[in-house]
Amino acid sequence: MTPSLNELKLAAAKAPVVPVLVVGSVEQAAPLAKALLDGGLTIAEVTLRTPAGIGAIAAMKAAAPELLVGAGTVLNGDDVRNSLEAGADFLVSPGMSHGLLAALGKHKPLLIPGIATASEAMSRHEEGFELLKLFPANIAGGVPALKALAGPLPHLQFMPTGGVSADNAGDYLALPNVVAVGGSWIATKADVESGDWAGISRKAREALSAISS
Ligand code: 3PG
Repeated sequence: MTPSLNELKLAAAKAPVVPVLVVGSVEQAAPLAKALLDGGLTIAEVTLRTPAGIGAIAAMKAAAPELLVGAGTVLNGDDVRNSLEAGADFLVSPGMSHGLLAALGKHKPLLIPGIATASEAMSRHEEGFELLKLFPANIAGGVPALKALAGPLPHLQFMPTGGVSADNAGDYLALPNVVAVGGSWIATKADVESGDWAGISRKAREALSAISS
């Protein structure tokens, strides 16, 4: 495990909810980062699904250096390079491809790759990955799948993402092989577009208090 993913695990131990963000404009990034910190969160993932994604990572790190900011939807070498140049602390992909693996090079330990089956989890472990994203978590079997994977693959840890919500985050986080959950419900695209920073902070606080109670 690299220092960077260790840092992520330490941050997740404090606040194990990772908002998955779609940022439409770089101007939204600084108030968004501050709203997440205000809500008690320590980690965020900015998807590269919008042209503003890379700029948003840089702007969030500038506004809130203590927030760990990862790049999500990392699909290829350009995404890896652009994300790291923007200051991303970690990378998240929905799955793995030969091209992405080759492009990672020495940055391989920064990636949390998506998996949906035991075979994919075994392949990623052979390649050196220990923290995996179960994706799409609700379709790939959810909580029962993670419980089942813990039997034969106890050395692997997971960040389930996709279909995680306020209602089921606690069920995932109760599992010993779950480090954090990812999800868009804390700061939806609509929340970010409308600048509902107070609402985002409130949802973050509610999520953290629900899992600590
Ligand atoms: C995504 O693909 O956007 C993430 O996995 C988040 O999924 P969610 O909207 O179901 O939380």
